[in-house]
Amino acid sequence: MIRAQIRGSGSALPKQCVTNADLADRVDTSDEWIVERTGIRQRYIAGEGETTSTLATEAARKALDAAGMDPSSIDLIVLATATPDNTFPAVATQVQRALGCRGGIAFDVQAVCTGFLYALGTADSMIRTGMAKRALVIGAETFSRILDWEDRTTCVLFGDGAGAIVLEAEDVAEDGPGIMATKLRADGEHKDLLYVDGGPSTTGTVGKLRMKGREVFRHAVVNLAEVLGETLDAVGLVAEDIDWVVPHQANARILDATARKLGLPPEKVIVTVDRHANTSAASVPLAFDAGVRDGRIKPGDLVVFEAMGGGFTWGASLARL
Ligand code: ACO
Repeated sequence: MIRAQIRGSGSALPKQCVTNADLADRVDTSDEWIVERTGIRQRYIAGEGETTSTLATEAARKALDAAGMDPSSIDLIVLATATPDNTFPAVATQVQRALGCRGGIAFDVQAVCTGFLYALGTADSMIRTGMAKRALVIGAETFSRILDWEDRTTCVLFGDGAGAIVLEAEDVAEDGPGIMATKLRADGEHKDLLYVDGGPSTTGTVGKLRMKGREVFRHAVVNLAEVLGETLDAVGLVAEDIDWVVPHQANARILDATARKLGLPPEKVIVTVDRHANTSAASVPLAFDAGVRDGRIKPGDLVVFEAMGGGFTWGASLARL
């Protein structure tokens, strides 16, 4: 059977690192409050000339280098973002141009923090059905540009960055490696808990992020544990089989609570929220790349990706490397 194999990963962060102490100079907050409630210690914030597409391109180049592949061999780019450079065209097409790989398929998906899972599920389906052979799947964001920097309840939580993986079609046995199962979910009932108060078709402005964090938190733990269970069930595996959980990095407490609900030890969870904060669609591939590059995630490992975000949207994907 045709399965999408993960051949390489890469990531990119803006130059400027902003600590909690830096933010305490700006809004009524403290390093202590932020660390205790979220686990975040610092985040990277895009400066002049750094955009979603420049970060995405850098991450994509590193992923292609890791895979030992030429950009011209890529026939699909699926890029997840809620903060595109422009309302259109899709950031994916700008990455395509920067990499010099014209003529294939390139488009963006928007599922906020679950964006990378939606992009991965989409690319995997297109590879399985033969529409593409080699894909770049990218999560890239500049959430700093949609934050209300006077709202301490949200501005301390987010950061900017990008992560990318390269997928390649390969004919393998049913129990062979590759993306094994992906489950994606959405429920539009809870828009008011997490949204941006602007857009091209309403205010005509970009708008700012608004969130009722405490309520989002409650939904996140329940939804994530459920979808992780469904994804494992789909391939007849159990939580103990997992080598690494690579979760969306919103809050260290959500990561702990989700791992506990599944009965997984915290040592199996890749955590980067302390360094990167919540980078929305970029957080899962950023965390994956960190785990691969520091040698924890290795060939043959069973890895589960999971995320929950605005919409609400949520999902999980299971891959044998
Ligand atoms: N510094 C100091 N005090 C603050 C800050 C801050 N930055 N922000 C809020 N507070 C205060 C509040 O005003 C409140 O004060 P009050 O009791 O006097 O009213 C108090 O701290 C407690 O506020 P809560 O919102 O109840 O704090 P909570 O423990 O719920 O933590 C947090 C807030 C960190 C946002 C948490 O709810 C959370 O992480 N939620 C999940 C958010 C999330 O996961 N979002 C991402 C999913 S989707 C996506 O990634 C886009």
